[in-house]
Amino acid sequence: MSGEAILDNLKQKFASEMGSPYARFVLNEGLDILNAEYVPNLNRVPLKPWARRGGNAAFLNHDASGHTNDCHVMEIPPGGKLNPHRQIYEEMVMILSGRGSTTVWNNAGKRITFEWKEGALFGIPLNCNHQHFNGSGSHPVRYVSVTNAPSIVNAYDNLEFVFNNPFDFPDKFSGEPDYFSAKNDREHWRVHTNFIPDALNIPLAMAHERGAGGQHLRFTLARTSQAGHLSQFPVGTYKKAHAHGPGAHVIILSGEGYSLCWLDGIEKPPQRFDWEVGTLIVPRNAVYHQHFNTGREPARYLAFRTSGSPRNTDGVLKCFYSRRIGGDQLDYADETPAMRRMFIDALAKNGLEMKMQPAYETELETLPPKAA
Ligand SMILES: [Fe+2]
Repeated sequence: MSGEAILDNLKQKFASEMGSPYARFVLNEGLDILNAEYVPNLNRVPLKPWARRGGNAAFLNHDASGHTNDCHVMEIPPGGKLNPHRQIYEEMVMILSGRGSTTVWNNAGKRITFEWKEGALFGIPLNCNHQHFNGSGSHPVRYVSVTNAPSIVNAYDNLEFVFNNPFDFPDKFSGEPDYFSAKNDREHWRVHTNFIPDALNIPLAMAHERGAGGQHLRFTLARTSQAGHLSQFPVGTYKKAHAHGPGAHVIILSGEGYSLCWLDGIEKPPQRFDWEVGTLIVPRNAVYHQHFNTGREPARYLAFRTSGSPRNTDGVLKCFYSRRIGGDQLDYADETPAMRRMFIDALAKNGLEMKMQPAYETELETLPPKAA
């Protein structure tokens, strides 16, 4: 039986499980759902009017987005504003272009307004009323949001409950005057803040665990159950490959390069996705992925994601340590020669050379032995 026939047969048997309250919600909003595995540039995604919000938008959904997290791009016209809005799901926002402000308030009458510009990151406190304003009369604002709407909409299946719920969560927001101030309270790789005004330039911390010269910064915005991080890696280098759960929305903030994605144990060449500033890649569930810098400046990306990827019993993310000791990260020593050749060739096209030798040597100093 052909693969097509096998899948067609299964399709009939799963027909009654197709769709979800979340999928119906998006389609009923009249918006397009685009594939988010690879979006060449978020700044060029075509948008349509979203009446509920009062701006133009498109949804970008990955393979598991119907049940984990999702993503949308939104535009506010020059001199315009979105409708006041509240939602009982969590949202993380990155400003792609433009400048403006947001007012957040709750039913207890606590209200804060803060300003932002391109590169700002913030979260919407759970179920708070909020309204975004474009601060320019001549340029649109475009932002990208990652939310946990799928799990919430699917659980309650009632849009009145999701979008018109009067409940305040004072532990999430109670009008603290410095709620959206940029804080620099750090703890290892974490910064405790609800607002990062400039994701492109905020200093990161060294993270040799992820590969050559890598830097890293982790955060949770607006006291949500979601999470995010920033990563950067130097010219002429690439990160170690790793795999984790679905829903990590990787958005390129600087540099140029490509990512390889492949499923372990499947004898197919990796998929290659070339990137530039504004590219979005959402690796599929359990797919190995690896990021390569082929440009003339450090490559930095943002990942907005769930916090539900596999961890060991001590809470350590398995994608941070070697497959040789049960983790989900591939050591440089265990990768294929073809990957290195591809990288050397890609650098050569830009007149650059690979600078990985120190990282290969450092890795060997602490590399666990291979399992028998
Ligand atoms: Fe990843």
